[in-house]
Amino acid sequence: MTFEAKITPWQRLRALKEAIARKGFVRMIEAHSGISGLVGETVRIERDGEPLEFDGFWESSLTDSTSKGLPDIELIGSESRLHTIDEILTVTTKPMIVDGDTGGEPDAFRYLVQRLERRGVSAVIIEDKVFPKRNSLDAMAEQVLEEPEIFAEKIGAGKEAQVTGDFMVIARLESLIAGRDLADALGRAEVYIRAGADGIMIHSKGKSPAEILAFAEAYPDLCDRVGRRPVLVSVPTTYNSITDRELVEAGFNVVIHANHLMRAAHKSMNMVAELILRSDRSFEADEYCSPVRKLFAAVGYERIVERDRQRSEARRPAEAVIIPAAGRDPEFPERPKSLIEIGGKYLIDHQLDAIERVGLKDIVVVRGHQGHQFEARLGGSKLVFLDNPEFDERHSLYSLFCAREHMKRGFVMLYSDILFSSEILAQLIDTGRDIVLAVDSSYQYHEHEIDKRLDLVHTASSLEPSRRRLRPTGVVEVTAIGKGLDTSPANQEFIGMAYFSEQGARLLQEVYEDCLATQPSPFHEAPSIARAGVTDIIQELIDRGIPVYGHEVYMGWIEVHSREDVATAEREVTAAAAI
Ligand code: SPV
Ligand code: MG
Repeated sequence: MTFEAKITPWQRLRALKEAIARKGFVRMIEAHSGISGLVGETVRIERDGEPLEFDGFWESSLTDSTSKGLPDIELIGSESRLHTIDEILTVTTKPMIVDGDTGGEPDAFRYLVQRLERRGVSAVIIEDKVFPKRNSLDAMAEQVLEEPEIFAEKIGAGKEAQVTGDFMVIARLESLIAGRDLADALGRAEVYIRAGADGIMIHSKGKSPAEILAFAEAYPDLCDRVGRRPVLVSVPTTYNSITDRELVEAGFNVVIHANHLMRAAHKSMNMVAELILRSDRSFEADEYCSPVRKLFAAVGYERIVERDRQRSEARRPAEAVIIPAAGRDPEFPERPKSLIEIGGKYLIDHQLDAIERVGLKDIVVVRGHQGHQFEARLGGSKLVFLDNPEFDERHSLYSLFCAREHMKRGFVMLYSDILFSSEILAQLIDTGRDIVLAVDSSYQYHEHEIDKRLDLVHTASSLEPSRRRLRPTGVVEVTAIGKGLDTSPANQEFIGMAYFSEQGARLLQEVYEDCLATQPSPFHEAPSIARAGVTDIIQELIDRGIPVYGHEVYMGWIEVHSREDVATAEREVTAAAAI
């Protein structure tokens, strides 16, 4: 969820009672800010084969105060607390229980109940101490209990103020915190239930759960006597050797993990800050920090950018196609590979057919070896021709950048020696990512035929290569590309078609400029930028943390590296024409 989460206050409000009725208990996690709310909203695991997540939030006075750098002594007024509560509600959908401290005087509590209920908060818990309270976990603080009858009046005031039957006012017993005994807690619980409390929270700062378990054991008899069983709430901060399941088995309906996200953040923040000082840079701290990209994803930033992209896509003309076709292939010395004839047509004509089907019109061919043959053979075409006369010294990356004027709106880079179905090209443009390579996962099934010139690709996909897979295609993150990659973990082959959105093209150009200015060549596989191939700069993009994706295809293309490939392509083209 993010700020685009869709829920009405009333749907959220009643969801807590509904969840307790359905499952018997709920597990709440503390939240003190929008981002901690997002963590509680989205963290999901699988345990014993079942999906597991938190049921909602505890808006804690301790962590709300701490997040503002202030002590938990009812110093934060309700306006500020409501502001934090709104922050969390805005970006989440799960129910919330608010820590109402002592609730203040009865009229202040009425006001708080109204304001929480209309926001969609499900419950407020108030503690039977005298304003201004001290945090219950502080062993040194003096804990002053309120008279039970006075506190009961406050509960009654809150119950009167609420509008729906779904909001809950929960009474929190501080007897054990203040050094009183179980009998005091049970006596107070009875008074509060009779005053209308919808729940009882028995608090303890003991290391052992023994005292709250003793309370839970006595609770059913007390409820029988009063004729009503409000939900029972536990906050296992100090006695956290007990599991949530054991608490539920003991009769608790609400388990609150009351401060852990704040404590986790505080510890990590200190550690990272120290590490930066110690290391004289932040590099060592990276592994303890979420990547910025994860923050973007957490707050829904990616969706905004995606919508920007869609809007500008609707406005702008289509991308260019750039075909670096300058190189000399010793297998075909007599002509550019684009002009090899396959099934009565030049290879490039097959490419143009597929490109036209996708609707792209700005097609640029960078000529080199036997470049003059293009005009002679393709005279009158609408292709734009550019030249890389030093094709023997300056390779495909240089050829690509001969066409930099055509990159501005985004572009497709196409090797001159592949035949492909137009679906592959259409899908490649349509993934919504900025830099996408068409990669083929079928090569593993003919691994024995691997040609040393293959551009192999490693991806972050956790999927094992398999012939049996339901999804026909997918987008995976590329982690490495090159001819020199190990074949064993390489799970894909780059087919020679890459898409760069407007933004992707801008990043590519920036990195290219930077590489031009870098001595020696930053590339692993090329001695200089002039001799670099397109895959070298793609690896450089990856090394710089720029996301590069692979659009998986399974067949639907052929490369022409040898005379046998030409024969295969002829057969395929004839067979395809016959369908
Ligand atoms: C809080 O989280 O603010 C609480 C629980 O009230 S405790 O800190 O244990 O008192
Ligand atoms: Mg509190």
